[in-house]
Amino acid sequence: MGVFDTDGTDASGHEQVVFCQDRQTGLKAIIGIYSTALGPALGGTRFYPYPSEEAALADVLKLSRGMAYKNALAGLDHGGGKAVIWGDPALAKSEALLRAYGRFVESLSGRYYTACDVGTYVLDMDVVARETGYVTGRSVEHGGAGDSSILTAWGVFQGMRAAAEHAWGSPTLSGRTVGIAGLGKVGKYLAGHLLSDGAEVIATDVNEAALAWARATHPQIRLVPDTAALITSDIDVYAPCALGGALDDDTVQVLRATVVAGGANNQLAHPGIEKTLAERGILYTPDYVVNAGGVIQVADEIEGFNFERAKLRATGIFDTTGRILALADEEGVSPAVAADRLAEQRMAEVGRLRSIYLG
Ligand SMILES: NC(=O)c1ccc[n+]([C@@H]2O[C@H](COP(=O)([O-])OP(=O)(O)OC[C@H]3O[C@@H](n4cnc5c(N)ncnc54)[C@H](O)[C@@H]3O)[C@@H](O)[C@H]2O)c1
Repeated sequence: MGVFDTDGTDASGHEQVVFCQDRQTGLKAIIGIYSTALGPALGGTRFYPYPSEEAALADVLKLSRGMAYKNALAGLDHGGGKAVIWGDPALAKSEALLRAYGRFVESLSGRYYTACDVGTYVLDMDVVARETGYVTGRSVEHGGAGDSSILTAWGVFQGMRAAAEHAWGSPTLSGRTVGIAGLGKVGKYLAGHLLSDGAEVIATDVNEAALAWARATHPQIRLVPDTAALITSDIDVYAPCALGGALDDDTVQVLRATVVAGGANNQLAHPGIEKTLAERGILYTPDYVVNAGGVIQVADEIEGFNFERAKLRATGIFDTTGRILALADEEGVSPAVAADRLAEQRMAEVGRLRSIYLG
């Protein structure tokens, strides 16, 4: 895996990829900036024990490109970026390492804003913020917006409502059965919205605490032993809210749902799965469109957080999802392809305006 375009084809298309090392703290990080066409790149920092430098690089290139598309369709004035810290957060994370990382972020002078991702938390961003102003997703105590899963779940619910309108003619989940895989931060809030809307909820989780939460808070949620039982249940909507790769070849063959809309990132296990979903008549709402509520929140925090303003923008995921599903029908492509086209269109049309000379 290389970064540069060496054979005439665009290998990764990134603007900038920065390798950061600090031997004393053990920091090894890579910051990927895919595009700043719409504004400063924005995306979280993943702290993960990759098996190799190549694996870390491959991940940051893929994730930063994905953020450009997500931010574009969320209507944000942000390009796409992401960072990875190569190491085991349980062993390697320290104040000094996070602050060293913060100084590298600062050295990019605002081309990249960082936030939380797998392996990094709100309190880590508070530490990073002691070295750089280009960080968001901080705690409420430090002027941040705190937990982003509230608006992520709200956005997923809006995307699901748009899919319901497309599939059944009415933007409600009332009377439908929704299967949630993963009752974590996002899945819990999503379950609440669905129950309030009149849906029946079936769910599963591998964590006993999450199941205990469901039994105590929403006893009407029907719990099933695992994801295999969930996807073969009589569900109208499947909401993957755990890890990536939820839609693999085996799952798609047996899935009973008409609609897929969930919070998890990178739901399609490999390219081409979206076609199999379409062939089976399953309406897939692209993950990066419906789960954009979190990045909408952290982008809002950069302006000075206003929950109502951020919620309004996350509510817009309903319209965006509806446009994508309509475009997919018009152009005879999958919703995943339609979403990419709309994102590229915004990056080109709005990004081009920067060529107007301002003196
Ligand atoms: N939190 C956000 O704001 C946000 C934003 C965008 C995308 N996402 C994505 O949404 C997904 C969920 O995020 P979260 O913040 O709720 O994470 P979380 O860790 O709080 O919740 C994930 C839940 O999934 C469960 N789980 C793991 N493996 C499972 C399995 N095989 N079967 C059933 N359950 C399983 C875990 O026990 C946990 O309860 C992730 O893919 C994340 O990347 C989250």
